[in-house]
Amino acid sequence: MVPTGTKLRISTILKSNYLDSLISISRNICVTNLVNKDVSSSNRWLERQKRDIFVKQAGLENYRCRSAFKLLQINEKTQILRPGHFVIDCGAAPGSWCQVAVQNVNSTGKDPNKPKGLVIGIDLQHMSPVEGAYLLPGSDFTKVATQAKVKEILCDRKANVILSDMAPRATGHKSHNHEIIVGLCFSVLQFSLSALSPGGTMVCKLWAGGDQSRLEAAMRTVFEQVKVMKPEASRDDSSEIFLLGKGFKEL
Ligand SMILES: C[S@@+](CC[C@H](N)C(=O)[O-])C[C@H]1O[C@@H](n2cnc3c(N)ncnc32)[C@H](O)[C@@H]1O
Repeated sequence: MVPTGTKLRISTILKSNYLDSLISISRNICVTNLVNKDVSSSNRWLERQKRDIFVKQAGLENYRCRSAFKLLQINEKTQILRPGHFVIDCGAAPGSWCQVAVQNVNSTGKDPNKPKGLVIGIDLQHMSPVEGAYLLPGSDFTKVATQAKVKEILCDRKANVILSDMAPRATGHKSHNHEIIVGLCFSVLQFSLSALSPGGTMVCKLWAGGDQSRLEAAMRTVFEQVKVMKPEASRDDSSEIFLLGKGFKEL
């Protein structure tokens, strides 16, 4: 794992052989990132992936995607994922956040001395199984039927943590993308009202923009504490940020 602040030598990574780089890159491509991009921007993106320490590290640690490090770094700062926790991961494909959640909540029951958690991953896309996670691939989280299914799996219990890394297919219109992703965050917040246990946590990803303050204000009405996070693994040139709502208030 790359602890926050660790400086891996980029030269070491660049010196590794070409095949190794290609394998590492192909294992860590989040498919949605390539959709709708022209060839030259895809080439630029591949070049950047080759230089990216988190892409390399994800390959070494068998994470499906570099995004794993965003959740690892958020968790390192906040310790929101604990053994025995029930976690709902919205926008879970290809599955690296599920992998991180499974490890932290002991949902495989690997450590018999710790309580066993539960991880539910939901995505529009197909997902390969993640050991220790209950997956709902091909499911739109915003649909009533999907949310009902999640509650069925929870079986009258409440989640401790609800995560959303959901992202729509980006169009060329930044403000439109922003509105859509904020809409997804609101659907997670709405769901949290009936699915999160008192004291629980919500983390959602958005692209910064005009509606952020509206979302933050809405979260403040139901969480003791709301803060904006930008983990080191989140690229500087991306407007991506994460909102953390901690201490869900009993309604
Ligand atoms: C950045 S990726 C998530 C990466 C994931 N956290 C990981 O670490 O592997 C964003 C995902 O959100 C999903 N998504 C977007 N809108 C969704 C929706 N309405 N319901 C479920 N998934 C959605 C996309 O299909 C995509 O796989």
